[in-house]
Amino acid sequence: MSQASTAACESATDPRIAFFDHHAPNWDSNLESQLRTLQRLEELCLRLNPQSGQNWLEIGCGTGQVTAWLSAKLEPGTVTAVDFSPGMLAQARAKGIRADFECWDITRRAPPVAQFDTALCFHSFPHFSDPVAALKNIAIGLKPGGKVLVVHLAGSEQINAFHRHHAGGAVAADFLPQNHEWPTLLKAASFRLAALEDRPDLFWLEAFQDAEA
Ligand SMILES: C[S@@+](CC[C@H](N)C(=O)[O-])C[C@H]1O[C@@H](n2cnc3c(N)ncnc32)[C@H](O)[C@@H]1O
Repeated sequence: MSQASTAACESATDPRIAFFDHHAPNWDSNLESQLRTLQRLEELCLRLNPQSGQNWLEIGCGTGQVTAWLSAKLEPGTVTAVDFSPGMLAQARAKGIRADFECWDITRRAPPVAQFDTALCFHSFPHFSDPVAALKNIAIGLKPGGKVLVVHLAGSEQINAFHRHHAGGAVAADFLPQNHEWPTLLKAASFRLAALEDRPDLFWLEAFQDAEA
């Protein structure tokens, strides 16, 4: 990891960093839930469409629960997996996953220009303090016509209720945007909405970088 990315991580002030650092050591304690997640990803694989040789940006990778799965699908392509919680990243790095783990706040720092085929926000988007800033930074990292995916293995109502009633603390008010807000948010970052599905067991948003948007 570069010095620059360490500094960016440590200078970040978002209170969610302490929240996720605190939860990092026990994040992987439910093995059954991790296995279920991987099974759901496998079921969604055709839609996710990771292709051998592609390079993906995974934002909010946490302890890397899906990073190894993704890395295996992309090989010899790679995953650049970013998170702003040093605690989460320490857990992820200890797993020896074939991925480049980097410490960034996606609302404050853009990836290298036009490097990635797809950017995946898996279970992370509601926590971005400034969604448009995050989307603009993601757009910078994508190759022309690249795509951003926002994926949750539950619907927005379930996710929002979980944050409010169970997670609490610094993430208690971290909600997915309302569905009607997405086209405007995406347009502000030069993305074009291609698919939005919101049902109790899946939230799926797919948008393409679009210079005309
Ligand atoms: C709910 S956790 C999900 C982690 C992982 N994707 C998983 O499914 O286990 C959300 C993650 O997003 C990270 N995160 C939240 N806001 C971020 C930001 N602005 N930049 C980078 N990472 C962020 C948090 O540190 C946390 O690890």
